[in-house]
Amino acid sequence: MIVSCLNTKGGVGKTTASLNLAVSRALEGRSVLAVDGDRQGSLITALANREWEPAIAAAHYPDGQILRQQVTMAKGRYDDIIIDAGGRDNTALRAALMLADLVLIPFLPRSFDVWALEDMARLLEEARATRDIRALAFLSMADSRGNDNAEAAESIPEGIEYLGTSIGRRKAIADAAGRGKGILEEPNRDLKASDEIRRFVASIYRYDNL
Ligand SMILES: Nc1ncnc2c1ncn2[C@@H]1O[C@H](COP(=O)(O)OP(=O)(O)OP(=O)(O)O)[C@@H](O)[C@H]1O
Ligand SMILES: [Mg+2]
Repeated sequence: MIVSCLNTKGGVGKTTASLNLAVSRALEGRSVLAVDGDRQGSLITALANREWEPAIAAAHYPDGQILRQQVTMAKGRYDDIIIDAGGRDNTALRAALMLADLVLIPFLPRSFDVWALEDMARLLEEARATRDIRALAFLSMADSRGNDNAEAAESIPEGIEYLGTSIGRRKAIADAAGRGKGILEEPNRDLKASDEIRRFVASIYRYDNL
């Protein structure tokens, strides 16, 4: 399954979520290709330094046309492909949108971020003229408590579903990503964080039978 982690808003946790998805699936013994569609190359940089198991294939395609061609060719060779794009509307983001079996949209429980979902809803509507695309928004860097989260969830625009599981704002997750690791590779640093990521990943891949 091809999962694209997208939001035209920057800094919402796309790369961190993509890395954790890739690592989690690889730990389950699946062959994983992680595609970085962001010119900045944060995901490819994180993965480039991995010299340990599980291996995760990684590629950097900031150009949309190349991304589309390469991922289309690679598709049959991997169990899972995860595409991370940059925080703006560009050719790579649009290619990732068109390739995706599932689009994941991380957003923060703050008004500007919730409004940014309208932008994603518009892009999805355009893309759906060509093909049907399932899109799930999830709360990223969420506070562990507070009504903000529930309120944010209610303001998701039409055309985007709400994924009940979220990723909390947790230092251990950011720190692990800085070392090129998913939190499941160092679960003892924060058991709550690793449980959360486990639940998050499971909730996404129950859509694998699409
Ligand atoms: N769950 C989290 N808990 C704490 N910090 C986080 C979490 N997720 C991401 N961060 C931090 O927030 C910042 C932005 O995260 P990230 O780079 O994953 O976002 P992005 O959407 O990919 O950004 P960009 O649009 O620039 O590509 C980083 O410093 C990252 O370490
Ligand atoms: Mg990023």
